[in-house]
Amino acid sequence: MTTRFLTGVTPSGTLHLGNYVGCIRPAIEKSKLPDTESFYFLSDYHALIKARDPERIEKSRMQIAATWLACGLDPEHVHFYRQSDIPEVTELNWILNCITSKGMMNRAHAYKAKVEANTAVGEDPDSNVTMGLYCYPILMAADILMFNANYIPVGRDQIQHVEMCRDIAIRFNQLYGKEIFVLPEAYIDEEVAVLPGLDGRKMSKSYDNVIPLFEGGEKALKAAILKVVTDSKEPGEPKDPASTSLTQLFDAFATPEQRKDFEDKLRNGLGWGEAKEIVFKQINQEIAPKREKYEVYMKEPQIVEDILMEGARRLQPMAKALLDEVRDAVGLRRFKPVAANQTKKKEKKKTKPKFKQYREKDGLFYFNLQDAAGNILLTGGKLENGKDLGILIGKFKKDGLKAFESCYCEISEGISPDAIEQCRLELVEE
Ligand code: TRP
Repeated sequence: MTTRFLTGVTPSGTLHLGNYVGCIRPAIEKSKLPDTESFYFLSDYHALIKARDPERIEKSRMQIAATWLACGLDPEHVHFYRQSDIPEVTELNWILNCITSKGMMNRAHAYKAKVEANTAVGEDPDSNVTMGLYCYPILMAADILMFNANYIPVGRDQIQHVEMCRDIAIRFNQLYGKEIFVLPEAYIDEEVAVLPGLDGRKMSKSYDNVIPLFEGGEKALKAAILKVVTDSKEPGEPKDPASTSLTQLFDAFATPEQRKDFEDKLRNGLGWGEAKEIVFKQINQEIAPKREKYEVYMKEPQIVEDILMEGARRLQPMAKALLDEVRDAVGLRRFKPVAANQTKKKEKKKTKPKFKQYREKDGLFYFNLQDAAGNILLTGGKLENGKDLGILIGKFKKDGLKAFESCYCEISEGISPDAIEQCRLELVEE
C-alpha cells in the first residue's frame, strides 16, 4: 500500500523564501520517497475567497505552478493539478456541505478571527464574511477526501482544518454505513525550518518582512538580504550568531560544517556587510539554477498549461470513481425497477450518540458519552445525587463541554472536542 500525501497551495500572491524552505522544498523531497504517492495542487477555488482581482489570480496561479516545476517537482511522478480542473471536487463539496454542522464551521479559526475583528471595531459580526470564507474548511475536506489522502503536510494554522476534514469523513462514513472515506491526518515535519523574515519574526506576507524567492531576480534577493536586521557592531567586534536572523537564513541552505564555519566567523568579528554577502551567495547558489528554469516556464505558459491539464486528466477516473461511490451511498442513483432496488436494499440500523448513566462501586453517579458507533468519547459525573446527572446532560445539550466544568470529566484519549461537539449536535437534532 502506498501512502498518499496531499497538499494545496492557494495562489493568492507570489512566493517567498519561507514558502520554499517550509513547504516546497520538503514537499518535493517527500515526493521522491518510495511507496508514496503525492498530490500537489493549486487550490484556486480557495483563492477566490480572498482575491477579487482576476488578473492577480491568473498571474499567481501561473507563478506558483512555474515555481513548483522549477523547484524540481516531477509531473510524471507527482499528481500536479489545479483544483478547478477537477469538477468532482465541487460536487463532493456540496454533498459534504449537507452533512457538516454549522456549529463546526462557527469554530473555524479564519471565520472566528474575522468575527472577533469585526466585533472589536463595533461592526456587524458577519460583516465582509462570505459563504466561501465560512465554508472554507468543507471545500478543503473535499480536496482531501476526493483522493483518500493519508497525510496532509500543512502549516500549524491548517491543523484545525484537517481535523475538521477528519470529523466530516467520520460523520459521512457513520451516516451512510460505509467506510468510503479514509481518515486523513495533518503531517507536521518538525525538522523543517520555519524561516525568520527580515525583522526576525516568522517570514510572512502579512508581516511584510519577506525575501522573494524568484520575483525580481538576483537583484531583489540581494537587496532583501541587505535589509535583514542586525545590531550595530562594527567589523572586527565579536558578534553573537543568535542575534540576527541571518544565521537561520544561512543555516536553511547550508551543511552542518558550513553552519559552524559561519558562526565561527561571526564570533571572530566578521562584518555584517560581509556576512550578508556570504548569506546571499549561499542562498543564491541553490536558487539561481531554479530561477533560470522558472523564467523559462514563465515565458512558455503553454508548457505549464499542458502539464496541469495532463495532471487533471490522469486523475479524472479516480475522482469519478469516488464520486460515483459517494452518490450511490447517499441515494443519487440511476433509476431501476422498484423490485430490483428492494432486493438490493440493505437493512441499516440508525444509531445515534447517547449518554449512559451508571453507578460505580464508590456509590457515586457517572455517565459516559458514546458516539453512534459505541465509542466512549468521555466519562464524567462522580456525583452524589443521581438526579444531577440529568441536569448536567441537559446543560451539555445547550452549552457543550462547558457544562462539565464543575464536575469530574475526562475526555477519552485521541478524542477531539470537535468530535464531542458533533455528537452534541446529533443529540440536539433528535
Ligand atoms: N487552505 C490551505 C492554505 O491556505 C490550502 C489548501 C486548500 C489545502 N485545500 C487543501 C491544504 C487541502 C491541504 C489540503 O494553506
